[in-house]
Amino acid sequence: MWTRRRFIQTMTSLGSLFSAGWAVGRTSRSRPTDAVRFPDRPWRYEGPPRGPVAVASFNGLQAVQEAYERMKAGQSALEAVLAGVQINELDPNDNTVGYGGLPNALGVVELDAAVMDGRTWRAGAVGALQGIKTPSAVARVIMERTDHIFLVGEGARRFALEYGFSNEDLLTPESRQRWLEWRDRLNPRDNYLEPEQRDVLIDYPDGTIHVSALDLRGHLAAVTSTSGLPFKIPGRVGDSPIIGAGLYCDDDVGSAGSTGRGEANIKICGAHTIVEMMRWGMHPQDACIEALRRVVSTTKEKRLLDDQGRPRFQLKFYALRKDGVFGCSALWGTQDARMAVCDDRGPRFVDCAFLYVAERK
Ligand code: GLY
Repeated sequence: MWTRRRFIQTMTSLGSLFSAGWAVGRTSRSRPTDAVRFPDRPWRYEGPPRGPVAVASFNGLQAVQEAYERMKAGQSALEAVLAGVQINELDPNDNTVGYGGLPNALGVVELDAAVMDGRTWRAGAVGALQGIKTPSAVARVIMERTDHIFLVGEGARRFALEYGFSNEDLLTPESRQRWLEWRDRLNPRDNYLEPEQRDVLIDYPDGTIHVSALDLRGHLAAVTSTSGLPFKIPGRVGDSPIIGAGLYCDDDVGSAGSTGRGEANIKICGAHTIVEMMRWGMHPQDACIEALRRVVSTTKEKRLLDDQGRPRFQLKFYALRKDGVFGCSALWGTQDARMAVCDDRGPRFVDCAFLYVAERK
């Protein structure tokens, strides 16, 4: 028999169950929890953007502006992120991406890139691609014209040539000079661990570009492109082209990506982990910080830790939620621990939350 008291008790517990489910699966926090930030630059909630949004790594200010303008003109997030990232790929002065990227140990530029479309969950990727200035565009052709996702090395290059890409020398005089200097300093007993280990801490080349975008129709896309670890062992592929590590994108939730030490990110599948954390209600910035905590807890090699047990490398995560709210995190709070953003408030840099204060640089 349903007494009045039992009816009220049942409805109350159903109510709390329902709201718990809502909180986990549906609501999205608009404010991150307090995290370490630059004390002179407190976090400000800017409110949700009206219109498209593009976010990128620190080197992507022009890229987000290009992406935003294209989306404002009605283009898709996919077109926008690819157009944005190509600015860096073709820029000889960005020596971490595309043309002018620092080469491998043999002096050959090898590029990694991937693209993902949040609307279809389709993706394309290339690894250790030589001779093609715009690896993200090759990744797109793989996504759209083949039944595959990931092509590497000579197969990827041959595929690109078949689709009309030109074979070019990607080494600029400056990147060749940097390689020659690196080679001069090589220890003949080099053990192929991290080149110049002394300088790994936060000097770890923090290039690579990631761009995520949300277009006027609410669709998301992401791209990550890099020349990878400078002077790497030929054939080394980092996190950038690995779907779920260097980038992940899901129209139902959001998009995420990474720059920095790829080996540390691959172990935790960073981008996918962040998207999953956002799926369950975490603020994008909290999800990015939580992913970094996992990186710390999965880094056990002594050679990668300083005397306080902190990773001696830099890694950053970027996230954009489907409602336009974004966040980023950096292991080390260096001056470039920021993300490039463009929305209706214009192009700008936004500080990342970080785990450690950098004592030098
Ligand atoms: N995150 C770029 C790389 O490790 O190659």
